[in-house]
Amino acid sequence: MTVTIKTGAEIEGMRVAGRLGSEVLDYITPFVKPGVTTGELDRLCHDYMVNVQGTIPAPLNYAPSGHVPYPKSICTSINNQVCHGVPSDKVLKNGDIVNLDITVIKDGWHGDTSRMFVAGETTPQARRLIQITYEAMWIGIHQVKPGARLGDIGHAIQRFAEKSGYSVVREFCGHGIGRVFHEDPQVLHYGKPGTGLVLEAGMTFTIEPMINAGKRDIRQMPDGWTIVTKDRSLSAQWEHTVLVTDSGFEVMTLSAGSPAAPDPSRLAA
Ligand code: MF3
Ligand code: CO
Ligand code: CO
Repeated sequence: MTVTIKTGAEIEGMRVAGRLGSEVLDYITPFVKPGVTTGELDRLCHDYMVNVQGTIPAPLNYAPSGHVPYPKSICTSINNQVCHGVPSDKVLKNGDIVNLDITVIKDGWHGDTSRMFVAGETTPQARRLIQITYEAMWIGIHQVKPGARLGDIGHAIQRFAEKSGYSVVREFCGHGIGRVFHEDPQVLHYGKPGTGLVLEAGMTFTIEPMINAGKRDIRQMPDGWTIVTKDRSLSAQWEHTVLVTDSGFEVMTLSAGSPAAPDPSRLAA
């Protein structure tokens, strides 16, 4: 395992990429409404990245081993889709919940972040899943400091999600990120406290829990990318890229439109 430690100018490069990734989500927010297709959201984001930001959409043609090249510039995961939903001519309808996952490359550095959106108005159940998943991500982020361990992050997320009546997807995880989209370490969203890699200042990785309203089991669709819940229950995900600092953490994927962090009382153990 090779975990890179970023220094000085490298961290500054990551900050810029992270903010730009988040700004794509700010840009697309008003377009996420009933009637829009996920393909239109992809096209709008692609054009914003390439023509306005001068960033490269990292997903486009991304081809990790065992996968066909990813054909689009963002991921759009609706309702029972867990992650890696491929934009298409599918129309969002009132009440759909959708994760938009953006990864930009700027000056060689990656910024990876996702948010949940609601098309129109949805059910209290769906809203609660989105909210609990958001809090689960932040609970994980708050574990991050030098000397803490990856298992502390996973455990905190799992405990909170399961206590809330939900399940944590195991097959996909957060990841180190930098000049490489997915690098070591793997950041599991479940685990045991006091286990795993010891965090050091200068590490950058994502925390991106996928939480299911039903069982944790998943299935891959025939397109080779889209992941869905086996029991067709709703799934939610949020993602930030974080830096381990000398005193704790810095969230690198924030921008003017980022939702506020949860009330600290919600994050207490
Ligand atoms: N952005 C996703 C992540 O959080 C990865 C998407 S890979 C793709 O790691 F090819 F599907 F875009
Ligand atoms: Co990621
Ligand atoms: Co992502």
